[in-house]
Amino acid sequence: MATVRKRVEKRDTERMSDTSFKMMTLLMRVIDLIFPYIRKRVKGFGIQEGMTVVDYGCGPGRYTTVFAEMVGENGKVYAADIHELAIEAVKKKIEKHNLRNIEPVLVDGYNSGLPDNVADVVCAIDMFFTVKNPTEFLAELKRITKSDGVLVIDQGHQSRSVAKEKILGSGCWDVVEESKDHMKCRPC
Ligand SMILES: C[S@@+](CC[C@H](N)C(=O)[O-])C[C@H]1O[C@@H](n2cnc3c(N)ncnc32)[C@H](O)[C@@H]1O
Repeated sequence: MATVRKRVEKRDTERMSDTSFKMMTLLMRVIDLIFPYIRKRVKGFGIQEGMTVVDYGCGPGRYTTVFAEMVGENGKVYAADIHELAIEAVKKKIEKHNLRNIEPVLVDGYNSGLPDNVADVVCAIDMFFTVKNPTEFLAELKRITKSDGVLVIDQGHQSRSVAKEKILGSGCWDVVEESKDHMKCRPC
């Protein structure tokens, strides 16, 4: 019993409530209808046919399916999230659109369970600001990224300078490129 509670607490550290997740999903649907910006935005991420991409903190999978199109049938997208409802939402999209190159991954705390050096590109979009232990989180992202791979990350609801400080302070990543939209980082 104690073990079960400990595991649930660990997973719960950054897991929003089910209600919050559902509200967020609804809001995202409305935003995507009014401002369909995702396809334009991802053009700058450096994702190419045949790559392996991890959509880390994928939420309901609005980026995941676009990444899956970009990498094509020879590529792969891992849709990783700490929330079970995110995994369910991605599974529904996989079934609905018969997407064979997406694999949903339920993350446990800062452990994704993904293999070492698996990703050409890891995308952490609109989620880094929620992470309570950025150093542990960024170490996990480094572990799953190939040595010549890239992390695409945005600051979300925190300032760029705070986000950058956390990234550089982790000792895991160099920021190699910056735009208004996102930062690109290489493992160091
Ligand atoms: C605001 S949503 C963004 C979803 C998606 N990236 C997008 O932009 O549409 C943040 C997501 O990150 C997930 N998340 C937060 N902390 C996480 C962590 N440590 N590991 C994995 N997922 C996490 C949340 O469960 C949520 O689904």
